[in-house]
Amino acid sequence: MNTTVLVFHPHITESKVNAALAKAIEGTENVTVRYLYDIYPDGKINVEQEQAELAKADRIIFQYPVYWYSMPALARQWMDDVFAYGWAYGSKGKALHGKDFAVAVSVGAPLAAYAPDAEVGHTVEEFLLPLKASAAFTGMNFQTPFVTGGAFTITDEALAKQVEAYKAFIKA
Ligand SMILES: Cc1cc2nc3c(=O)[nH]c(=O)nc-3n(C[C@H](O)[C@H](O)[C@H](O)COP(=O)(O)O)c2cc1C
Repeated sequence: MNTTVLVFHPHITESKVNAALAKAIEGTENVTVRYLYDIYPDGKINVEQEQAELAKADRIIFQYPVYWYSMPALARQWMDDVFAYGWAYGSKGKALHGKDFAVAVSVGAPLAAYAPDAEVGHTVEEFLLPLKASAAFTGMNFQTPFVTGGAFTITDEALAKQVEAYKAFIKA
């Protein structure tokens, strides 16, 4: 099974969590890690290239830090451009059908804040609903997300554990 991990982090050199997670899975057999902000520093996405990359993948993973309860801007742009009519959806758009789709996100706030009766008032999974619905719309199987909470204050020890968990998640 080929896995393509799309890392959307606008400042990967300043990242603690996503940089560590992505680096840990680089070089894993049948896993391709792509840093989209490095590939497209001007934000102009090569749609044909991206679609060709996805065609090779059985599983697509979106990895990003949560910004404003959503995804960094390039990730949204990438979806708008790459999941095109006639390719990703529409009567002839079946390119993504049957693929697995997963999300690996980090949030600055502790996971305890992401609950109906806590500070944020919603679960992390609720904020992922547009991606879940988009996966369904394009015929992909949405898998259990990989969530790293408390990124603002994460210790090196906790991050090391999370890195091991991510490696297992990628190999599953
Ligand atoms: C512009 C911006 C918006 C953010 N919005 C949120 C948010 O809505 N919820 C949250 O828990 N953390 C938020 N954060 C914190 C990031 O999610 C956190 O810094 C990131 O997950 C850490 O990952 P990194 O070490 O890879 O940068 C935000 C950070 C930035 C810079």
